[in-house]
Amino acid sequence: MSEASRFPTDAGDEVVFVVESNSSRETKAWGRRLASLLRGGELIGLTGELGAGKTCFIKGLARGLRLREEDILSPTFTMIQEHHGRLGLYHIDLYRLEAPSLDDMGLREYLFSDAVAAVEWCERLREANELEMLSIRISYAGASSRRMEFRAGGSRYHALLGELRRRFS
Ligand SMILES: Nc1ncnc2c1ncn2[C@@H]1O[C@H](COP(=O)(O)OP(=O)(O)O)[C@@H](O)[C@H]1O
Ligand SMILES: [Mg+2]
Repeated sequence: MSEASRFPTDAGDEVVFVVESNSSRETKAWGRRLASLLRGGELIGLTGELGAGKTCFIKGLARGLRLREEDILSPTFTMIQEHHGRLGLYHIDLYRLEAPSLDDMGLREYLFSDAVAAVEWCERLREANELEMLSIRISYAGASSRRMEFRAGGSRYHALLGELRRRFS
């Protein structure tokens, strides 16, 4: 089965949307674009090795939610940081956890709320494959270029991704 056919598709919409970013500015711009389409309650999962640009993307997302980009930190000890802008934003980083489950640390409350949840190392979550989310995989494509693969799991995210693509590609 091809990757693109893993999720059910509505007519005409792609389930995977791939863009290339050539600077951290561009990565942030994609975060801002996505933020402009969010209504609250979305789960955004970010995947990619250390230094790929997950936090960078979330800085752009924050900016788009009218938060200060500087307030978005790479959490070292804090795994969950809460911000309030146009919508609430929970910035979660699962890097330090081996195989967290939704029942750990109240994660369930953070991931399914009225706020936007942006989760770095989302694939570490035991239930990751069962959750509907917009996942963004960032990989190196050169010193300052990255490939960003947006993938929609579930109809809500399918619509969101379709919108992102229509407006900004
Ligand atoms: N195109 C790009 N997109 C995102 N970050 C980039 C890009 N090019 C270079 N960088 C740099 O890569 C690093 C990404 O760091 P960060 O966002 O903290 O990664 P992660 O959260 O995935 O570990 C930053 O130092 C950033 O300036
Ligand atoms: Mg990070």
